[in-house]
Amino acid sequence: MLNTIMSETLPTDERYNTSFSRYLDEYRRSIENTEEFWNEKSKIIEWFRDYDRVLDDSKKPFFRWFVNGKTNVSYNCLDRHIKTDKRNKVAYIWVSESGNEKIVTYYGLYRRVNALARGLLNMGLRRGDHVTIYMPMILEAPVAMLACARIGVVFNVVFSGFGAEALAERIKDSRSKMVITADGAWRRGKIVELKSIVDRALELTENVESVIVVKNTNNEINMESERDFYYNDIIEDGYVEPEKMDSNDPLFILYTSGTTGKPKGIVHGNGGYPVWISNTMKWAFDPKDEDRYWCAADIGWITGHSYIVFAPLLLGVTSIMYEGAIDYPKPDRVWDIIERYGVNILYTSPTAIRLLMKYGDKYPNSHDLSSLKTLGTVGEPINPAAWHWFYEVIGKSRCPIIDTYWQTETGGFTIAPALGLGLPDLKPGSATFPLPGIDPVILDDNGREVKRNEKGYIVLRRPWPGLMLTVNNDDKRYIETYFSKFKDMYLMGDYAVKDDDGYIWLLGRADEVLKVSGHRIGTIEIEDALVSMKEIAEAAVFGKPDTIKGDTIIAFVTLKEGYEKSPDLIDYFKRKIREELGPIMVPEEIHIVDSLPKTRSGKIMRRVIKAVYLDQLPGDITTLENEASVDEIKRAVEELK
Ligand code: WT7
Repeated sequence: MLNTIMSETLPTDERYNTSFSRYLDEYRRSIENTEEFWNEKSKIIEWFRDYDRVLDDSKKPFFRWFVNGKTNVSYNCLDRHIKTDKRNKVAYIWVSESGNEKIVTYYGLYRRVNALARGLLNMGLRRGDHVTIYMPMILEAPVAMLACARIGVVFNVVFSGFGAEALAERIKDSRSKMVITADGAWRRGKIVELKSIVDRALELTENVESVIVVKNTNNEINMESERDFYYNDIIEDGYVEPEKMDSNDPLFILYTSGTTGKPKGIVHGNGGYPVWISNTMKWAFDPKDEDRYWCAADIGWITGHSYIVFAPLLLGVTSIMYEGAIDYPKPDRVWDIIERYGVNILYTSPTAIRLLMKYGDKYPNSHDLSSLKTLGTVGEPINPAAWHWFYEVIGKSRCPIIDTYWQTETGGFTIAPALGLGLPDLKPGSATFPLPGIDPVILDDNGREVKRNEKGYIVLRRPWPGLMLTVNNDDKRYIETYFSKFKDMYLMGDYAVKDDDGYIWLLGRADEVLKVSGHRIGTIEIEDALVSMKEIAEAAVFGKPDTIKGDTIIAFVTLKEGYEKSPDLIDYFKRKIREELGPIMVPEEIHIVDSLPKTRSGKIMRRVIKAVYLDQLPGDITTLENEASVDEIKRAVEELK
């Protein structure tokens, strides 16, 4: 059995340099001897109580790793290091848009986390309670995550670019008792008033009892007495004993949206998750003790959770943390930070690379980037032009590009070149090979494996420790979304091909999920917000390919009786979406039409709208009920030209 997997999955040793064979050995061991392999790899963290079993798959697809093991993520990120020579090592160098800088050591971070943990306990929070964190990229954000982890409080970070409705929805679904936020966030020299967004969200929810506010931008804010407290007033120095968490107790919930239903609260646990992310970071980036590592993502997304906060701290790495836009105040911001702090490992996204590439070579060329040794990307497939620019202009053709393919649900990297185990020859645009423990296969609609170079669904055949525990409050949805199309196998939702050499190439989403600047955007959330406006009858949202952002959002709507189409109305719709859902969710274009193409049973045919809009063949439209609507979309497109 294994031989067939190996020969299907991987190239043979001979075709690669000797170092690649180390990867092959580790990979083979992870498949042949899974329990022994993970028993060894689990020692990357410290356990208060050893687990009874490595893997329990008796209730699949609810796989449970390190059964009955007890540990604590905050303890592993902090207490463990301060007993060693990492005590005074820098954990974070924080840099703001305006160039302010703060440095915190592992011991300093430990002190801060304990002080907040004590504050949270004083306010009555207890193990098993839920908290929403809605914060900019400031040091108090990882401190809040770690303080919650320390006392067993499940946290739910909401990206600070989301608006009041989106925040309220997530606060409700996660049943948060508390919100930790800041007065504001800096965005391109302006203040985004986070606290007033929280105030509006709390009008829509009832479960929140208290709000903690960090002073960051010092703008004037409303403080509700009895409910709102300043961070500095509630923290208390001292030591808080870390809770002994079960491997499979939830650590956090992070929402991700799709094409149907509400956003899904992806739940990750206290055991498998830290084991997975720290091993994958070691394998993929191989950080050395003296390295400075910069993951230029936001803590509001899984990349920030796993690879700004937890994996680097678990491994005792020094990270750069940046609050602000990557091209502000000037397009050389990223290159300036690399030079100023001597960054060795830079992890970013294709969309960021394309944006910075647009400004031209003169910006990177005016900085000394010689400290760089490893580059990484995440979020979407990287196009060869961006890959070459990153490789040649930024990495001077001496830094490998680690293209990491994964998602919120997988906890950490799944497919990526493993620098720490032995690199394969890189091919621009391919995430290359699976990391140990990951067993990918590419299937057609009938569940048959496709031939080499043929496109299919990428599916993972075996569980791995980083797989989510479930969807919050919705075990059924967990099974239906991820384990139903192909029974007991994890459906990633992307198309992929495997080439003749066994390299895996990701080809984008197999569903209608949009990737806007690398972020997964749920069309359904935007459609819901549109149709909940009193003027709008129906809405259809889809993505238009964009050379920098990946997708841009396009909406077609029909109006209710009594409303007239006008540019002002469109502006008003956009403004409302910005307030409710946040700036990243605002459609670039909203078109008002008299009718939308529908099937005879009344389902809006987004596929047809998109095809007509993009001037492609709309495919089968025999089930279409109202053909005139297609002409209307064509006319709307004509008007744009
Ligand atoms: C989706 C997951 C993983 C953290 C950031 C996004 C796409 C992600 C790659 C890559 C091709 C990629 C997939 C995936 N994706 N990385 N290296 N190559 N596609 O997390 O919001 O959960 O989105 O992002 O479509 O399914 P996410």
